[in-house]
Amino acid sequence: MENITIKKNLSEEEMYISLLPQIENLINPGEPIISNLSNVTAALKETFEKISWVGFYFLKDNRLYLGPFQGKVACTIIELGKGVCGTSAKKKETVIVEDVDKFPGHIACDSGSRSEIVVPLLDGQKVLGVLDLDSYELSAFNHIDKQYLEKLCKLFLSKLSIEKLSAIID
Ligand code: SME
Repeated sequence: MENITIKKNLSEEEMYISLLPQIENLINPGEPIISNLSNVTAALKETFEKISWVGFYFLKDNRLYLGPFQGKVACTIIELGKGVCGTSAKKKETVIVEDVDKFPGHIACDSGSRSEIVVPLLDGQKVLGVLDLDSYELSAFNHIDKQYLEKLCKLFLSKLSIEKLSAIID
């Protein structure tokens, strides 16, 4: 049965340390990419109360397209270089936004969102997409989230077929 167990009263770092191997176990390379990635978003949302929205966008022809997510209805297309997601994909680096009102060009899919972190999905120097997390709290994400979310992305990318992942929005 697919489930995860995270003890209460852990620090956020301890929660990530407990979560990562559990997500690794959830990933089944023999099953469709979309099923695996859907469970990654669910595991994150279930673990961290601070997350209001978590999901993937995939890059094709300089546009990011909405993938599996947990949360409210979201914008389906983001141009490369636009918003926090497009900026992360263009720079090929994680972007932490402590206050979305102070990020010029932030795309507000949910007006309740106050802070955000976006981690690029990289195959070497090639950007496949991004993992985006939003919060209703200001400054919800920091270097701990960056460290472990980057690790998480590397972990599931190493277990999944990059070829299938690249074709996810064809
Ligand atoms: N805020 C993002 C858009 C995606 S939603 O948050 C789900 C951005 O500025 O790229």
